Amino acid sequence: MKRIFSGAQPTGNLHLGNYLGAIRNWVTLQQDFSDCVFCVVDQHAITLWQDPKELHRSIRELAAAYIAAGIDPRKSILFNQSAVPGHAQLAWVFNCVARIGWMNRMTQFKDKAGKNRENASVGLYVYPTLMAADILLYKATHVPVGEDQKQHLELTRDIAIKFNNDFGVDLFPVPEPLILGEATRVMSLRDGTKKMSKSDPSDYSRINLADDADAIAQKIRKARTDPDPLPEVVAGLANRPEADNLVTIFAALKGISKAAALADVGGQSFAVFKGMLTDLLVSELAPVSAEWRRLVADPAYIDSVLRDGAERASVLARPILDEVYDTVGFLRP
Ligand code: TYM
Repeated sequence: MKRIFSGAQPTGNLHLGNYLGAIRNWVTLQQDFSDCVFCVVDQHAITLWQDPKELHRSIRELAAAYIAAGIDPRKSILFNQSAVPGHAQLAWVFNCVARIGWMNRMTQFKDKAGKNRENASVGLYVYPTLMAADILLYKATHVPVGEDQKQHLELTRDIAIKFNNDFGVDLFPVPEPLILGEATRVMSLRDGTKKMSKSDPSDYSRINLADDADAIAQKIRKARTDPDPLPEVVAGLANRPEADNLVTIFAALKGISKAAALADVGGQSFAVFKGMLTDLLVSELAPVSAEWRRLVADPAYIDSVLRDGAERASVLARPILDEVYDTVGFLRP
């Protein structure tokens, strides 16, 4: 049996990296896999401080973005993590399976904790065990993510294997990451060596799903480039991170390889290419952002989707958590 699980954090706006690296692939996979579970990971969000009012709003906004991008809540399960207690319950078991040495190797913790590691939340440290619980609570077999989640997926696989070994069972599948398409790591528009991220202080570094056509045009116009025209072949993008990033975005939007994109636009100046890229971005994102705006104005509908999703997710999760509790030796009186 194949089952897809994935999620994103409700922290600020969804950007083009989330969209091309993850959510657009979820929409495609939803057509091939009958069993898909998509989660708004609100418990992960609070590993860094979140204003409660903003978090509350962001959870609905992210759920609305999933639907606007094409997730069909009748076909797939869409819910927020904190509404299904099994995530936290299984994460505790995994905290006792994972080793401190494994956690110490997690680069995302180092990045997010920064220099003042002693002051980071304990939740940030054990973030990956909650992520493993998200996936394995449903015995998911495939996990579509961007490149930056690869290490967390490897840890999830290690936890599944160690749990099975420790208890002499074959309870958890070892899930496969699905890192698909050209845009597995979309970079900042201001610095092609940095990942496009919600936490970058400059809004010009990213395209948000909520940006209108003018904002998109302005951000692409201001995007950093170099003085040379675009190369004819992929090798010509070496040491040109900004050019590489814009060509990657162009190729991903068109659903073609970078080589095919360069066969089309190689030799063009950035002025011309940026115009083409803007048109492509606007035509892809404008319908999504219009639908997103419509959905955000209807919180009762979003809540009904999330409520229904949490019930369906709980039906899948409960017997698996029971199996884990029995395996570990917990008494379920
Ligand atoms: P998050 O919220 O940071 O990002 C959501 C998804 O977007 C991808 N992504 C990118 N892809 C390409 N280029 C970028 N610049 C870029 N930025 C983000 C991420 O790889 C991700 O797929 N830990 C996860 C959320 C999570 C999760 C899970 C994912 C929690 N539990 C279980 C899968 C399965 C995260 O912080 O994603």
